[in-house]
Amino acid sequence: MEVTSNELIRRYLEQTQSLYGKELFIHKVVNAQNGEDRTQLLAEYKQEISACLKCPLGKTRKSFVFGVGDPNARLMLVGEAPGAEEDRLGEPFVGRAGKLLDKILAAIKRSRTKDVFICNVLKCRPPNNRDPLPSEVELCEPYLIHQIQIIKPHLIVALGRIAGKTLLKQELMLKEMRGKLHDYQGIPLIVTYHPAALLRNQALKYPAWEDFKWVQSILEGKS
Ligand code: URA
Repeated sequence: MEVTSNELIRRYLEQTQSLYGKELFIHKVVNAQNGEDRTQLLAEYKQEISACLKCPLGKTRKSFVFGVGDPNARLMLVGEAPGAEEDRLGEPFVGRAGKLLDKILAAIKRSRTKDVFICNVLKCRPPNNRDPLPSEVELCEPYLIHQIQIIKPHLIVALGRIAGKTLLKQELMLKEMRGKLHDYQGIPLIVTYHPAALLRNQALKYPAWEDFKWVQSILEGKS
């Protein structure tokens, strides 16, 4: 089912209202204009949502994995959900796939703390690393939406099909989403392979590298 913008806005307002009350929230977002504001807002937001128990994953998690990186990042990477290592350490992409992601970022002259912010659609680990349930995505996505609003990245890269279809609100295969410059609420968005897929299938490394060269050229204003 395609979710309309109105429906998204309704869910988002409901969630933020339950967290902040109406006035405070609107004030905070409108004021997120410079680097200092973003750092503070992101830290405050982390504090505010990290005890979330809205879905059953809140009871089984070790850590609420908010995200990591530069609040002023121009590049935002969005994965699926924390795995076992991420749950243990409270940071996204710290397992084998994460190590590969760090190498890819180094190749485009960035790192998880330099001009990059990394997070996931779900902030808590699904048991046995199963795919996120639609109900979990519905409850957790407003957190991602708010993170994007605070950081205001120049480019979003969705890592894998789940992140891509969640952000694009379309039930598509990865190959249908990859290779296109999408639009996410006015922010350019690219969908590429999940780093775990690159570990499973070496042949995907070359096309993934092509995607990240494209990412680099967009950030450097060359395309
Ligand atoms: N896979 C993801 O999608 N996110 C992580 O944080 C780790 C593995």
